[in-house]
Formats: sequence, structure tokens, C-alpha cells
Amino acid sequence: MSVALGIPVRRRDPGERPDTTGRPETDALVDRFGRTAHDLRISITEKCSLRCTYCMPEEGLPSIPKDELLTPAEIARLVGIAARDLGVREVRFTGGEPLTRGDVVEIVALAHAAAPGIPLAMTTNAIGLDRLAAPLRDAGLTRVNISLDTLDREHFAELTRRDRLPRVLDGIDAAHAAGLARPLKINAVAMRATVDDAPALLAWCLEHDAQLRFIEQMPLDADEAWRREHMVTAAELLAALRTRFELTPVGRDDPSAPAEEWRVDGGPATVGIIASVTRNFCAACDRTRLTAQGTVRSCLFGDDETDLRHLLRSGASDAGIADRWRAAMWGKQAGHGIDAADFARPVRSMGAIGG
Ligand code: 5AD
Ligand code: SF4
Repeated sequence: MSVALGIPVRRRDPGERPDTTGRPETDALVDRFGRTAHDLRISITEKCSLRCTYCMPEEGLPSIPKDELLTPAEIARLVGIAARDLGVREVRFTGGEPLTRGDVVEIVALAHAAAPGIPLAMTTNAIGLDRLAAPLRDAGLTRVNISLDTLDREHFAELTRRDRLPRVLDGIDAAHAAGLARPLKINAVAMRATVDDAPALLAWCLEHDAQLRFIEQMPLDADEAWRREHMVTAAELLAALRTRFELTPVGRDDPSAPAEEWRVDGGPATVGIIASVTRNFCAACDRTRLTAQGTVRSCLFGDDETDLRHLLRSGASDAGIADRWRAAMWGKQAGHGIDAADFARPVRSMGAIGG
């Protein structure tokens, strides 16, 4: 099967229900390892305004045919089912870059109407927020997390293959003005080319009252250039930050929160580090994911996806869709296994899954 199209190799027949032997009778999204998913991430597009090397290929991902993309009404229906029938408490829209989808405001508005009271967040690179922050807020978006890896314009242009740092900074201003970024949360992937910029990024975040979290790079780049021995580890990143700041561990207050927090120069400000590779938190994972094509992907690293689009379009009831989603969750794998000898990269890259 074609890898370039981002089609998972082990995609089951859409009509086939995953095996649920041993699953207890419960409405919740439980798996065989004692985990329950409460956090839904929905990728709404594979397109992006940047080409971060840890995510996208230079030429971008192949376009998903329009009829394979979930429509705003379909996304909203799934959000409603997740919130009402499956115990999902929070929804996050991702991409690609969610703001590149022309109907993003409609998606948020319909999702909000389908699940009022459920926080709706978005992970974005901020390009386009100057125009969209206020409409998204009015449609019901609760907050945004902004991805920004460096404040060095040349490094930004190299890493993202686009010279668009000023547009990101404009987007951040707009998100702040719209009240979508209080507190402002910035995610940065720790990369070899930008690790020396980390202290300056933290200094900027302290000045702007922003909460910064670094993420260890995972092998989810379309170019497959990731190497365990080349990645910047949390330990190395800490050492880089400590050239300028005094950091003391705070620990995790919420065990399912992936970030470990460090107090900066005695506090109250903190910096988070998500050591997804060197100290993985798979055992506490509380996520379920939907791809832009409407498949449930229980784990970033699990290519075994369950198709809900087919069900949605063949007249299935909400109960039938919820049941298939539960079955998918029951099959969730234990973890990414990056350190295992037989680790195999997933077929989809990050832009095709949703961060
Ligand atoms: N490893 C870790 N994080 C990644 N992201 C994208 N690719 C990777 C990767 N290979 C993050 C981005 C963004 C979110 C969409 O996913 O930084 O915050
Ligand atoms: Fe786009 Fe986000 Fe991937 Fe960068 S990480 S290329 S901003 S989807």
C-alpha cells in the first residue's frame, strides 16, 4: 500500500469491528491497560502554512481528496457523540495547520453547538490568527496552544522552510487580544539546530507571561531523518536552559499531564518539558484521536485505525458509532515502544495524524 499517501498499512476493512473480547460493560473509552480516554484530538486537515522538518516533507503532504475529509457537520456529530456517550471532557483541533481549512470557524461553531460546555482548544502555528482569533473565539473556541520553536528569524526559516516568523508573532498578538491565549501557551520541539536558542525563547516567554513547554522530538517526521542518537534529550535541553536560568523541579501535579515542570529562578514562572521519548508517559495516556479522514487512531504510533467516516456516511446511529469507537479504544496499544529493539515507525507522519 502507498506510504506516500499516508495510508496506514494495517487499515482494517471499514466494516470490520475490532475485537472486544474481555471488554467490561462501560460507556467510557477504556483499553486493556486500564486507561480511560477523556481527551479527544481531531486533525482537520493535512495542509500547513509551514514545513517544519520534524513533521512535513518539503513539498507538503499529498492532498486528501475532498470527499475523504470529514465535513464540519460530521466533525460536530462525532464531537457530540464523544462528549455525550463516551465521556470525553476536552476537544483539541489540530492539523496539519487547522487554520488553513477555510471552514475552520464553522467547524468550531458546530462542535460548540454539539457539545456545549466542553472546552474546545486548538494547536496552531498562529499564522492566520491575526484574522481568525476573534471569529474563532466568537464561535466558541476556548483557547489556543501556539507552536513556536525559536525566535531567531533565520533559524525559524530553516526549521520551518518558510520565512514567516513575523506572521507568527502577529498571530500571537491577536490571540492575546482576543482572549484566546490567557495564559499564552507555547510549545517548542527541542531540535539540534535550535537548542542554543532555548534560553532566549524562555526569556521571551517570561517577559510575555507565556507558559513554555519543550517537547522531545519523536520519530514522526515525514522525511524519516529522526535518529535516537541525534535527538535533543530533556536532559540536554535542561543543561542548555541552565546556562541562563536556575531551574528547580516542581514535579507533575496531574499524573496524566505529560509535561514535567521546572520553576524558573525561584518562581513563580515555570517551564515544562515533555520527555516523550526518554521518559515516556504512555501508561498515563488519556487520549483518543481522529484523523482528518475520520478514522480513530488511538495512539500516535499505532497504524491500526478504525474508520468512522464509512459508518457516518452509511446511516449508522450515534449508538453504533459510539460502539465502534469504544471497540477501537479497547485495541489501543500499550505505548510507542521507541526504545524497543523491534520499534517500527508509524506510516503516518505528524502532519497526517495531528499533534
Ligand atoms: N515530535 C514532537 N512534536 C511534534 N510536533 C510535530 N511533529 C513533532 C515531532 N516529530 C508538534 C508540533 C506542534 C504539534 C502540532 O505537534 O510542535 O506543537
Ligand atoms: Fe505545520 Fe505544525 Fe507540522 Fe510545523 S509541526 S509543519 S506547523 S503541522
